Amino acid sequence: MQDVGIQALTIHGRTRKQMYKGEADWNPIAEVKNHPDIHIPIFGNGDIDSPEKALEYRRRYGVDGIMIGRAAIGYPWIFREIKHFFRTGEKLAPPTLEERVQTAREHLEFSVQWKGERKGIYEMRRHYTNYFRGIPHFKPYRQRLVELPTFTEVSETLNEVAEKFAGYYEAVPVE
Ligand SMILES: Cc1cc2nc3c(=O)[nH]c(=O)nc-3n(C[C@H](O)[C@H](O)[C@H](O)COP(=O)(O)O)c2cc1C
Repeated sequence: MQDVGIQALTIHGRTRKQMYKGEADWNPIAEVKNHPDIHIPIFGNGDIDSPEKALEYRRRYGVDGIMIGRAAIGYPWIFREIKHFFRTGEKLAPPTLEERVQTAREHLEFSVQWKGERKGIYEMRRHYTNYFRGIPHFKPYRQRLVELPTFTEVSETLNEVAEKFAGYYEAVPVE
């Protein structure tokens, strides 16, 4: 592939048959990266879900970059958290409740713009758990977010969440 002109390559550490079973094996990724014939950037992918793991895998396997899939779903802040950890060795505070509401709302707006109100709202429903993970007594709000049928109602519920749980994540210590 390098010989036909591709500029970079991301490799996932499982076969197609394995699907998501077990841990991704990054050894073959490192083998490609460290092969003397390879001069294009090689990125690794599979199971990275924290800044610590990103740093450990980058060091251990020597890749030029990392791609992240599932850990970014409903938590796009993982990218800035990893960048910050690489730069400073310190953990960034988690996003505030206000930021989570704003991002969930923007996501909802784009989803509705792109897919129409019905489908957009429906496809958004799987994401609220991730956007608002860890908040005690969130269940009744999540229930409404995943049941209400119109953009206006979901959006109003997001306003209520912003009001009711304001400041929640600021009080959560960074591990
Ligand atoms: C919802 C979802 C959709 C995906 N769609 C694609 C896709 O269209 N093309 C692709 O090559 N990989 C796709 N993947 C696989 C991811 O690119 C990635 O290889 C995989 O999730 C493993 O990385 P992770 O452990 O960081 O999630 C998808 C994964 C998920 C969870």
